[in-house]
Amino acid sequence: MLKDLLRTADLSPDDLEYLLAFAEELKLDHRIDHKLLRGETVVLYLTTPSTRTRLSFETAVARMGGTPVVVGPGDLQMGHPETTADTARVVSEYAAAVVIRTPDDEQVRTFAEHATIPVINALTDRHHPCQSIADLLTIRELYGDFAGLKLAYLGDGNNVAHSLLEGAALVGMDIAIATPPGYAPSDEVVERARRIAAVTGARVEVVNDPHAAVKAADFVYTDAWMSMGDPGSEKPEREFALAPYRVTGELFAEASHDARFMHCLPARRADEVAPEVIDGPRSIVLRQAENRLPTAQAVLHGLVRGRLTGSGC
Ligand code: CP
Ligand code: NVA
Repeated sequence: MLKDLLRTADLSPDDLEYLLAFAEELKLDHRIDHKLLRGETVVLYLTTPSTRTRLSFETAVARMGGTPVVVGPGDLQMGHPETTADTARVVSEYAAAVVIRTPDDEQVRTFAEHATIPVINALTDRHHPCQSIADLLTIRELYGDFAGLKLAYLGDGNNVAHSLLEGAALVGMDIAIATPPGYAPSDEVVERARRIAAVTGARVEVVNDPHAAVKAADFVYTDAWMSMGDPGSEKPEREFALAPYRVTGELFAEASHDARFMHCLPARRADEVAPEVIDGPRSIVLRQAENRLPTAQAVLHGLVRGRLTGSGC
């Protein structure tokens, strides 16, 4: 049984299918299994700002009859003076699950190792599994399936790119990631995605050329050039390196004629995407944001009910 969701590849293809199908049902009636968290709390520990993740999980917990307890970076003794392991053991005595956003992926792993309750990664510097599940739901709502589809991701090959790589591989959708040299996704994630893709039949490409990546793409996806964990001093060099990956109207026109634009949000219209694209008729960013709620509810249900088996690796 899968206890935690720390990265998308923690899921098996069947787990992901279960979550997507359950989220689709929740969109029709969000009261399915709505008493699961009655009398329970779910702790949301968020060390950086969040609109979508915080509000979708808070709403999901409320819809399931529970009480969300939101704590920020100065609120817990975790890390100082208490060990992460001790905090995890203590929180496990009170809550039904924990949702954690902190840049330090290793700390979230340590927390999960010592917690006896489900732990959900709500964004680290390496992974954003909840975003990728909502994105896959958005794609499936449009096409009904993933076979024969291609997603191109342009920009920084970090957390969102990693989770998309793993998610696309799990559902058997082709994915091309284009990054400047020095901003490539981690080898470990690419290798993991390729191992999954070898079973599901997806193609996983990692290139430098944004034009090659968007060719024949059904979805063009980008993310912030400056992530929340990136030091402000890197801004000029990041802007210089990532400029050719900005999704302009011209670059977007090189994708499939009916390609959709995707972004996890928050977006910077002066950086990674032109207003004409993100605010244009083929942008599906608001549907992605909308789908954070049913997928958050599905993830809580799947983990708290013990319905997920895990990838086993
Ligand atoms: N996409 C996303 O996770 O947004 P927030 O940072 O607002 O939660
Ligand atoms: N890459 C971005 C994603 C925000 C949802 C960041 O880490 O800030």
